[in-house]
Amino acid sequence: MWLTIVFVVLLHGYCYSYTAPSYTNETDPYLGLSPPVYPAPQAKGSSNQHWADAYSKARQLLSELTFEEKVNLTGGHVGRCVGNTAAVPRLGWEPMCLSDGPSGVRDFEFASGFPAGIHLGATFDKNLMYRYGKAVGEEYRDLGLKIALGPMGGPLGRIARGGRNWEGFSNDPYLSGAAMGRVTKGMQETGTIAVAKHWLGNEQEERRRAELGKGEAISSNIDDRTLHELYAFAFMDALREGAAAVMCSYQRLNNSYACQNSKLINGVLKEELGFEGMIMSDWNAVYAGVASANAGLDLNMPDAGWWGGNLTDAVNNGSVDAARLDDMVVRHLAAAFYVDLQAQKAGSIHRPRSQDQTPLVAVTTEHDALIREIGAAGTVLVKNKGDFLPLKNPRFLTIYGYDAESRPNPWGNNPGIFGGGPEENWAWNTYNGTLITGGGSGSTTPAYVISPFHAIVERMAAVQGTVRWNFISDNPGPPYPDADACLVFINAYASEKFDRVSLTDEFSDRLINNLAANFTNVVVIVHSAGIRVVDPWIENPNVTAVLFAGVPGQQAGNSIADILWGDVNPSGRLPYTVAKNESDYGELLNSTVSEGPFPQDNFTEGLYIDYRAFDRDNIEPRFEFGFGLSYTTFEYWIQNLMSEPAWTDHREYPNASRPVVQGGHPDLWDPVLSVRVGVGNTGTRAGYGVPQLYVSIPNAPKMQLRGFDRVGPLQPGFMRYETFYLTRRDLSIWDVEAQSWKLQNSQDYYIAVGASSRDLHDGTVFRPSMADQVLDKKQKSQAFVEARTGL
Ligand code: BGC
Repeated sequence: MWLTIVFVVLLHGYCYSYTAPSYTNETDPYLGLSPPVYPAPQAKGSSNQHWADAYSKARQLLSELTFEEKVNLTGGHVGRCVGNTAAVPRLGWEPMCLSDGPSGVRDFEFASGFPAGIHLGATFDKNLMYRYGKAVGEEYRDLGLKIALGPMGGPLGRIARGGRNWEGFSNDPYLSGAAMGRVTKGMQETGTIAVAKHWLGNEQEERRRAELGKGEAISSNIDDRTLHELYAFAFMDALREGAAAVMCSYQRLNNSYACQNSKLINGVLKEELGFEGMIMSDWNAVYAGVASANAGLDLNMPDAGWWGGNLTDAVNNGSVDAARLDDMVVRHLAAAFYVDLQAQKAGSIHRPRSQDQTPLVAVTTEHDALIREIGAAGTVLVKNKGDFLPLKNPRFLTIYGYDAESRPNPWGNNPGIFGGGPEENWAWNTYNGTLITGGGSGSTTPAYVISPFHAIVERMAAVQGTVRWNFISDNPGPPYPDADACLVFINAYASEKFDRVSLTDEFSDRLINNLAANFTNVVVIVHSAGIRVVDPWIENPNVTAVLFAGVPGQQAGNSIADILWGDVNPSGRLPYTVAKNESDYGELLNSTVSEGPFPQDNFTEGLYIDYRAFDRDNIEPRFEFGFGLSYTTFEYWIQNLMSEPAWTDHREYPNASRPVVQGGHPDLWDPVLSVRVGVGNTGTRAGYGVPQLYVSIPNAPKMQLRGFDRVGPLQPGFMRYETFYLTRRDLSIWDVEAQSWKLQNSQDYYIAVGASSRDLHDGTVFRPSMADQVLDKKQKSQAFVEARTGL
């Protein structure tokens, strides 16, 4: 029956009128000001039974510590990792090793190079996000490391050319949040502490730190509403899943350094979001002793910095309360106990922290398989003229571009882009070939790399095919008219410490143009640490197919070969907007720094970054947020909507009598509406559909992602239902006056489902306070489906 469906032309776009709300923060009198919030809240350990158990153990241990031991625990020490906590040998408390970074253990041998955050975001697959966190956590555990310096939810990706956007998952807070939560959960179930970083507003590399001769670090001036709805949003998910640690960022937020900002730490993180764990500084990000202690900082990294003996004096002379010191320490101890309990419950193998007893190999065949799977799942097909891909039993391929091969680089194991240290920055670029990750502390030091060239040659050798290549020239010849396809590998590098200067590069653009002038079937593969603009060559008729292959980790070659040969049907989706022209990103293309010793950066665009800004300004992107093709086609529709029990009292605000737990007010996580979405494979190959649910929240950007998943594999002609639960938070806006999340339950919300942020197939208006309307839609939707399926 379903096999005989004739799909009608569906709602392209959405039929409701929209005017951008007048909301702007430009006149906000508090923009750039950070109100004092004291004293620092003391952790209660009351969020759930695990936290309660962790705290009872931590308090017991605390009671046995001397004053000196307590102070010693508040600062980092020299050890085998980039950061190391203190030991208390007398009581058998071992030091904890902290290692970067978000996408695998860096600086250790026999550790895997996982796909970077942005690549995982592009999978739109919640299960892969969880499995990724678990696998990364296992590698920390098996190397005897206790604390992973990730996942990363900030930078969120406000600036298109931001140097570190690729370490996080997406510039959409909902997608980023889904990954932050699942990665945290997976990691901590192995007994590894996840550090959600960087709290908060570190959206550019330029002047992220104070610089001698220049002045203070940049101040990210973010209004209260934007801070909640964009920048803190994804952290909430990590906290909700139990993140036992948070790292504060380098720069100033509203003119107060993030690691000594009482509003940010005492106010938002600890009071409002009920954080029970420890907040540590970014490396040397603390500029004052007493101020940071009283603002809520718990651990100074990588050494005691302004604390140590000064903290002892400050407690002795009353500048810092003794209870504050106890709170720092108890949070630290509880974080470790908490993840051990999580691991125990999840049945994870327990490994002692002592380095003498740790096995030396973390990389496993399972992790390799997962890296390969995520590498392929996060690859986004954006052009495929005449269904040219997958390749049809190719016998003759040509391969171009330095990104095709991993080559020995001129610096041996120390490319030195970031400034030194063995293996500091194992990222691939012009000099060292294929790009599997970005640079800086979020880079990886993979056990090995399977390059695209390696994987392709292996496949071609198996069929006695021919391969010709040139990795050096930007105008390679001869044209080989008999080749089945011409594969061009290009990349776009980005790194911590500097923002990008362009979203294109001349060499790669020239290479593609020259090849497209001589070949007909040019397939471009773009490995990029973030956005890569592909105009104007994307329109060249000889550029037959284009894949955004992201930063896929050490199995890069196998992952891309799986897609090219069609063993895996592409299902990746863009976790950001690809503009036609770089200038389309407007003010948000580049980092900005005002003149003077106290540089300011006003986030005057408020909520309107990336697709929210393109939608508001009616700018047609080259490829919109959420876009991605498949070797098959899909249809998406709303099957029904249902109000969940938490909806029925129609309260605008969370119930004040319920206590806050870690992750924020518990009401925020109650589902208030469920949307059942149908996904049907209308093409001729099995594949994964990626239904995306967007909501037009009143008085907010036009459409915002509020549900997604990767569904399948679905055989041709088959369908499946997926239910998205929308929580109170997902449908609320932050009410600055009430200082609470507000459900606008007398106004219309518009809900739409489709293939991307601009390809919405079915939608409906509903008003939260009118349950009957919701039911009405349910019937209508049923009729809609029946009409189309002929049931
Ligand atoms: C980065 C952090 C990192 C730390 C330790 C800092 O420069 O901002 O993200 O975890 O170094 O390597």
